[in-house]
Amino acid sequence: MSARGHAFGIDIGGSGVKGATVDLATGQLTHDRLKVATPQPSTPAAVAAAVAELVATAQWDGPVGLTLPCVVRDGRAETAANVDPAWVGTDAAELFSAALGGRKVTVLNDADAAGLAEDCYGAARDLHGLTVLLTFGTGIGSALLYDGLLVPNSELGHLELGGMDTEDMAAASVKDRDGLTYPEWAQRVSTVLRHIENIFWPKVFVAGGGISRDHELWIPLLTNRTPVIPAVLKNTAGIVGAAMAIDAGIAP
Ligand code: BGC
Repeated sequence: MSARGHAFGIDIGGSGVKGATVDLATGQLTHDRLKVATPQPSTPAAVAAAVAELVATAQWDGPVGLTLPCVVRDGRAETAANVDPAWVGTDAAELFSAALGGRKVTVLNDADAAGLAEDCYGAARDLHGLTVLLTFGTGIGSALLYDGLLVPNSELGHLELGGMDTEDMAAASVKDRDGLTYPEWAQRVSTVLRHIENIFWPKVFVAGGGISRDHELWIPLLTNRTPVIPAVLKNTAGIVGAAMAIDAGIAP
């Protein structure tokens, strides 16, 4: 974080690498998001080059927080569900730091970053107890937060249910893939939420990911028992959470 309370966050996804400077007092971006396409294949070296390009464009010379759609522990990616398999075992913190001239970087899971951001500035801001944030996109990402404390790498999209991963049953991409209507898809999401609530008993679910923009078309159709509220930060949550992670000392 700079003296002005600004930090730089980068959200790395399957299609885009997006970054911006974040005002940590408000959780707002201080300028339009910068975006470069995620290189294909999305190998560690190619993505690190895209990150360096984005940071150079932004003319940011301070520390950087980054997300990956991977389990991340001690800066190391340990899974790779929707990015190149070469990420597994990569020391992402070392890679990005080297690509950015040796500066300090913090790397965390993308859904964990979104959870931190929603908890501090968004939908879960004034909530106490256990909040489960789920991001519905290509996969299902998850963040478990208890009174603002993140339990990293929960990976509830890979919780097995009926012989398959929950994300293969109810990700937003599955709705498109299987041509499901909102009522049909909402039934599947309800099944997943019931499974999660029977294990964790959260007080609230926060629904994020692009499809949460259309929340009024499906959240009212859910039949699980725990309240579900839409995310507020939408497509900036990953960037904001990445920026927050720098000084929060979060290095899952
Ligand atoms: C990955 C998670 C990620 C989620 C959303 C899942 O397939 O395993 O690490 O958070 O997708 O990108």
